[in-house]
Amino acid sequence: MTDALCTESYTMGTRTFMITGATDGIGKHTAERLASDRNAVIIHGRKSRSHPIVTSIIQDLESRGAANVCYLQADFNDAKQVELMADAAVDVLRDWQQQKAPKRDMSQIPALDVLINNAGVFDPKPRHSLQGYDSTIAVNVMAPFVLTRKLLPCLAHGDEARIITTSSISHSWQLPDVDRLFSRKLSDTAGEESSEPDNQPLSYSAHSFYSHSKLCDMMFTSQLAKILSNYEVPTSIENKINDSQRNLLRKLKRIQCLTMDPGTVNTKMLLAGWGACGINVKTANNTYELATSSDYVYGKVENGSYHFGGGGSRDSRDKKKLNEFWHKLATCTGIMNTHMINLEQLHKNTPGNTVRTNTPSRSQETAHRTTCRCSNPAHTTGNSEMRRSQHQREGVRRFCNSNVLITIFASIMSA
Ligand SMILES: NC(=O)c1ccc[n+]([C@@H]2O[C@H](COP(=O)([O-])OP(=O)(O)OC[C@H]3O[C@@H](n4cnc5c(N)ncnc54)[C@H](OP(=O)(O)O)[C@@H]3O)[C@@H](O)[C@H]2O)c1
Repeated sequence: MTDALCTESYTMGTRTFMITGATDGIGKHTAERLASDRNAVIIHGRKSRSHPIVTSIIQDLESRGAANVCYLQADFNDAKQVELMADAAVDVLRDWQQQKAPKRDMSQIPALDVLINNAGVFDPKPRHSLQGYDSTIAVNVMAPFVLTRKLLPCLAHGDEARIITTSSISHSWQLPDVDRLFSRKLSDTAGEESSEPDNQPLSYSAHSFYSHSKLCDMMFTSQLAKILSNYEVPTSIENKINDSQRNLLRKLKRIQCLTMDPGTVNTKMLLAGWGACGINVKTANNTYELATSSDYVYGKVENGSYHFGGGGSRDSRDKKKLNEFWHKLATCTGIMNTHMINLEQLHKNTPGNTVRTNTPSRSQETAHRTTCRCSNPAHTTGNSEMRRSQHQREGVRRFCNSNVLITIFASIMSA
């Protein structure tokens, strides 16, 4: 493989961003602005890395002066792909961090400063994700939850970290019955959908499902902010973690969770659902502003708040509804949660022992990583042996160390 994954040389002083849905519309525009500021940017899309649009986006971001660019591919209609992409993102961040500070302990969790959950879909036709959920709910709500959960340790390490999740001025005012919204249509082995969902689904209307999904994005932000800002390291794990792990957990409190309406913007989504009634995408700067401006740093605006679209639905502040929603979301995504390893059991594993977990194997991760583009020579297949032995050398220690934290972090966002 000759094509590259990440651009070279991490410029000191830049920040690290990950933005989903950066192959079009608002996400693409936001990535361009972040690149022009010389940040390091992980961009995501569902297109293959060899797609001409992806190639040209990467070239463009590089030419704008991005400190580093990496493209990760995942279809958010499959939660497994989201999980694998998150793992690949952690690897990319770790490699960037090592470029920046070669002597740094590789067992450390790498830092991500800002995660922008931007990818979204408006689907005129009802579809289902691979796991059987309504596609709009899977892409717009479940995928950000899964991705955020897995990147939480990196965000805790980030500098004035933010999690931006894109809602909309057209969000629903009332949360519908969550069992029906998250109803799951089970597939048989041939991939054909059975007619029996686990709960009676809501009758499909593209606009109402989209609006519900955007209320969910708002509620996700609101509840996550509450959970993180109230987080205390449980006494049950105090003596099981070391000082740096404890400090990392304490930094959770300072992650700023924000949501917004990105503006009414003439993108393919708007054209599909509402017509060309918006602004030009080149002027759609709300997402960029919320992700970068010092107006929104921790302590200046309320954690969990909604921006640019008025007050937002009352349901996003209703404690009972927030708990009900969160429980449902965590439970539905919990079935894909590969990190529910028993902490006690994990701690008994000393480096050299195998930790029993469903975590994607290194070969699975590597397979996923080939969907990345990078010009870091260590990421090309020609150097795969080098990478493999490097992984082996540090692998077990890093794996155990990270998984203690990943398990704890996963439990923070569990039901
Ligand atoms: N445009 C507006 O007026 C408006 C208003 C309020 C809120 N929003 C929100 O703003 C965000 C961006 O929307 P946009 O208007 O920029 O839409 P867009 O131009 O259609 O871009 C959406 C992005 O999400 C990606 N995406 C769609 N389905 C995906 C899937 N299954 N898996 C992975 N990626 C997927 C798209 O990939 P492809 O390039 O492959 O399609 C694209 O990169 C969305 O969350 C949307 O709800 C938009």
